[in-house]
Amino acid sequence: MNEKVTIDYLQGLKQAGEKIAALTAYDASFARIMDEAGVEIILVGDSLGMVLHGAEDTLSVSMQDMIYHCKMVSRVSRQALVVVDMPYRSYETGSEACDNALELMEMGGAEVVKLEGGADKAKIVEDLVSRGIPVCGHIGLQPQSVRKYGGYKVQGRNEEQAELILADAKALQAAGACMMVLECIPVALAERITNEVSVPTIGIGAGAGCDGQVLVIYDVLGLSPHSPYMAKNFLNETGSIRSAVKEYIHAVKTGTFPGLEHSFI
Ligand code: KIV
Repeated sequence: MNEKVTIDYLQGLKQAGEKIAALTAYDASFARIMDEAGVEIILVGDSLGMVLHGAEDTLSVSMQDMIYHCKMVSRVSRQALVVVDMPYRSYETGSEACDNALELMEMGGAEVVKLEGGADKAKIVEDLVSRGIPVCGHIGLQPQSVRKYGGYKVQGRNEEQAELILADAKALQAAGACMMVLECIPVALAERITNEVSVPTIGIGAGAGCDGQVLVIYDVLGLSPHSPYMAKNFLNETGSIRSAVKEYIHAVKTGTFPGLEHSFI
């Protein structure tokens, strides 16, 4: 891979059955390492509220935070597609979502915006897509709703919940989302969604059956005080940040990560 990753390229990987490797980055130094290592997607995640700011959750992250960090990442990303999170309460109405997404693209250099929600956000996704803004959905565990769940809990464990999450995936696809993150859902549900939607699914705590995987870079490097169950420390076995990133990509591409010990049944 020597050219800029596009949405069509990712779609081609899904069709060819080749896994997609994604990581979060919040600054130029990490983004450069990932870009050179061949990661296909760099996500400027609002997880920065927790790993950079030390907050309990992502709710205090602002538009200004996301623009600031996205700018650093997009400046050095020559190949990887830069996806940025729309922060909490920045996409409550279609027009607010469009204004904020355009700011993230024009000022931050984002190529795709990501927002949390499924059927409930389909109209907003449709509004963004109709304005030419590429959108990545995010369903299953939605960290911006952590206070509603009462903690970071696996979603879709019973049949009724699973059907709702599948319906969310289909609603996002129908609204024009170009890909979707599936977070903390059982392996079988993630596989079913991946088979039933035509756009790439990127999993985190959703098993190896997704079209791609994403992890928070601080978890890959063992820097988070409470590394989540679905993450793996790749620095331990490699000894440098560059080789940890390369090993992560290799493990995703060859299907050795995530293992069942990083997934929910
Ligand atoms: O904010 C983030 O880093 C994310 C990933 C966990 C998918 O949304």
